[in-house]
Amino acid sequence: MLEIDVLTIFPDLFTPFLEAAFVGSAQEQEAARIGVHDLREWTEDRHRSVDDSPYGGGPGMVMTPEPLIPAIESLAGPKGPDRVGRVVYLTPQGEPLSQGKLLEMAQGPPILLVCGRYEGIDQRVLDLAVDEEVSIGDYVLSGGEIPAMVLIEGLVRLLPGVLGNPESIETESFRGGDFLEGPQYTRPPIYRGLEVPLVLRSGNHAAIEEWHREHALARTRARRPDLLDRAGGSGFSSSEIGGSKPNEKVRPGDRVEN
Ligand SMILES: C[S@@+](CC[C@H](N)C(=O)[O-])C[C@H]1O[C@@H](n2cnc3c(N)ncnc32)[C@H](O)[C@@H]1O
Repeated sequence: MLEIDVLTIFPDLFTPFLEAAFVGSAQEQEAARIGVHDLREWTEDRHRSVDDSPYGGGPGMVMTPEPLIPAIESLAGPKGPDRVGRVVYLTPQGEPLSQGKLLEMAQGPPILLVCGRYEGIDQRVLDLAVDEEVSIGDYVLSGGEIPAMVLIEGLVRLLPGVLGNPESIETESFRGGDFLEGPQYTRPPIYRGLEVPLVLRSGNHAAIEEWHREHALARTRARRPDLLDRAGGSGFSSSEIGGSKPNEKVRPGDRVEN
């Protein structure tokens, strides 16, 4: 079972997210347990404060070691050998999240996600109570709650039996961490003059698979050549990766050749 706890000052933000769609059904199926905890439950002052102004001046507020450290320790134990699972702080300064990171986390121990607010958290919380830092991208949001949801959604959909079609995980972008999925089509066969490639309607499964491979590679080469630099596990041979076919300039809305 995937076990995730979240520490936040805005627990209500998670309510609709945790109830809806496959995240909700994963919990009903007991494939996942997701607990959301209000950090203010660990405060002891009458204002239930969680932040203070930064030493040395500067804009905004910083989240204080208390109540954060007691909260983390009561949910995950003290940092070190007695820790239960891993404590992850969401921060733009962390390791960039990737499909490979999600796969690794999905197979790992229980996770406690710590959501920051304001200007972030006191460094001593990181030193004394956090195991790792993860970023969802090179931009700054106002809190760690949406990053935590990104991580939860990415993890839950990897659970066996949670997605309606488990094959999606096998074929979609970043399957091996290193290439994008190619173009996809559904009905009707012709829309505003744009036709679905004949091969996809041919019923020839080997040809269809080959078409998807070629177009995944072409799209990756056109849009994210950096991914191919680390294409060790992609399933593409080095000559395919180095080649030049087909449709390297494919963009959303382009006509795709058969
Ligand atoms: C306004 S941000 C603080 C940014 C911080 N002053 C800095 O420069 O790194 C407030 C909180 O939002 C969360 N956050 C913002 N952007 C994020 C990102 N790209 N990935 C993960 N968490 C993020 C973090 O938990 C952070 O503590």
